Amino acid sequence: MKVVRTEGALRDALTPHRRADHSIGFVPTMGALHEGHLSLLRAARLECDVVVVSIFVNPLQFGPREDLAAYPRSEERDLHLAEGAGTDIVFAPTTEEMYPAGTSTMVTAADVALPLEGEARPGHFDGVATVVAKLFNQVQPHKAYFGQKDAQQVAVIQAMVRDLSIPVEVVVCPTVREPDGLAMSSRNAYLSSEERERATVLWRALEAGHAALSEGAAQEVAEKVMEDVVESETGVVLGYARAVDPTTFGPSDGTSPILLVIAARVGSTRLIDNLPVSEA
Ligand code: PAF
Repeated sequence: MKVVRTEGALRDALTPHRRADHSIGFVPTMGALHEGHLSLLRAARLECDVVVVSIFVNPLQFGPREDLAAYPRSEERDLHLAEGAGTDIVFAPTTEEMYPAGTSTMVTAADVALPLEGEARPGHFDGVATVVAKLFNQVQPHKAYFGQKDAQQVAVIQAMVRDLSIPVEVVVCPTVREPDGLAMSSRNAYLSSEERERATVLWRALEAGHAALSEGAAQEVAEKVMEDVVESETGVVLGYARAVDPTTFGPSDGTSPILLVIAARVGSTRLIDNLPVSEA
């Protein structure tokens, strides 16, 4: 496994593969790798000739009151895990390498970025779209792998790829969960053991919302069911609990598939999760 830290070194590492017409699979990450990331790397390993992972904590996607400085960083462990999952090339640039002085071009994310996470974290998705567009240009992958866990991010990236004609296939892999249902997230590292217990409320609420819909409840009823589950848990503050259209993240019109989405603050840690529902 090669570790490269500059765009030039990345280009040099990929040149022989491009010449050999190898398919390139790419997993963009901010490090603090967990089973969710490893499932993306394994999927890329199965489907592509070369697997590239980026590890870059992207300052553009953090708001002024968010946890950029405190974001978990564990490069040595990440490299070990990435190698175990079959990675060929790790691209781990510095902030100066990604955004040299004078850099000011930004991608404005599509309208799907506006509600929910977009309201809670203004500018976040523009920062995500900008870094992912730049990484796509640097790596030029055939396939790029993202987790369903960050469903609105996936919709933003799919819209960007479509709108800007970026020649990459976006592959979405299922959310990886702990045995008690908690979705794997680098932010779970912030939870105390008591908060970790409480955090399962997101999954419990999604399951309750899903059960309500399966029994024929209206979407608003399912939303209320999810809210009630979250509000019954101490130390957890609800952000939103909605049934949305998974491509627009606006209300579902009842004919398109429904995605249940939820955000809540557990102690000082904001967590998100979602559950696709096949039938309205
Ligand atoms: O999902 C993430 O870890 C980040 O948003 C991403 C896609 C690596 C962009 O920084």
